[in-house]
Amino acid sequence: MRKRIFSGAQPTGNLHIGNYIGALRNWAALQHEYDSFFCVVNLHALTATQDPKTRREKTREVARLYLAAGIDPKVSTVFVQSDVPEHTELTWILNCVTRMGELERMTQFKEKARKQRENAGVGLFDYPVLMAADILLYQTELVPVGQDQKQHLELTRDIAMRFNRDYGETFRVPEPFISKVGARILALDNPEKKMSKSDENVNGSIYLTDDADTIRRKFKRAVTDSGTEIRFDETRPAITNLLTIYQLLTGRTREEIEAHFEGKGYAQLKSDLAEATVEFLTPFQERFRGISDEELDRIFAAGRERASEVARATMKDVRERVGIEGARI
Ligand code: AMP
Ligand code: TRP
Repeated sequence: MRKRIFSGAQPTGNLHIGNYIGALRNWAALQHEYDSFFCVVNLHALTATQDPKTRREKTREVARLYLAAGIDPKVSTVFVQSDVPEHTELTWILNCVTRMGELERMTQFKEKARKQRENAGVGLFDYPVLMAADILLYQTELVPVGQDQKQHLELTRDIAMRFNRDYGETFRVPEPFISKVGARILALDNPEKKMSKSDENVNGSIYLTDDADTIRRKFKRAVTDSGTEIRFDETRPAITNLLTIYQLLTGRTREEIEAHFEGKGYAQLKSDLAEATVEFLTPFQERFRGISDEELDRIFAAGRERASEVARATMKDVRERVGIEGARI
């Protein structure tokens, strides 16, 4: 049997090239090797403020972006989280083996709740347990994500091990898959932050749906470091970030890229990078627009069926393990 991978993105905000480079790109590359499940995590999106109409539209948009990124629905299972109610059922059971202290240590929660801790939603606090349920429900081996999800993956592993210890071997303990290059693409306007969907400043991110002029303008305004040489250099995060985007979108090696930019300035780098990004995103956006509603409905229906099959089998086992399979004797 092929090993399994599971991953997902929230249908909030706009997906950007950081999401592509850090996550979707790896999903598409791994799908042929693994039995793959790619979920649009719309229940996680309930932790953010969003009107129902937008949430509905974004859920479909994110799935289209998966497909445009090369996820093949004939090879992988693409589905919507809320179509498989076992995710919420398992969350409750895992809540009962997770500790307050563990969730309080989650940096993403601390950042998001920083200003208004008393008013932070319980859902936001519990977000990592829903994520653990997503992963464990499918007996997942590998979870391809960006750097920012590493801590959530460690928690998922701890929850799985604790459950297995208390109730007997039930869940496979998953490993994160975080690529060495590109797991944390930085904001163009501030290389001290990651590129983020929830950033109010749209100039920090290149969205996967941005048009050519917007892409050129955003790169032109991108912040650079002091020094003039164009090369990969950890002490100069802004330039290294731009070069990393260039590297991963063009598939050229670091050596080739440094040779190409030798003796050239920031203006040249920004304009070459903008053209490479436009070249990458043009066919991407054509694929994005080419997916009909009917096709998407069919993909969701098939995905739901296949995901439910696996989820039900795990839940049957979990219910028996904890002794809630029903009182029928
Ligand atoms: P999210 O936007 O939080 O739904 O993230 C979807 C996926 O993209 C997750 O696997 C994230 O770790 C990844 N991701 C988000 N932002 C970045 C970034 N700036 N660089 C690399 N990967 C990212
Ligand atoms: N929390 C993840 C993010 O913000 C999204 C997510 C939810 C996820 N469930 C998941 C990622 C399961 C991987 C596996 O990026």
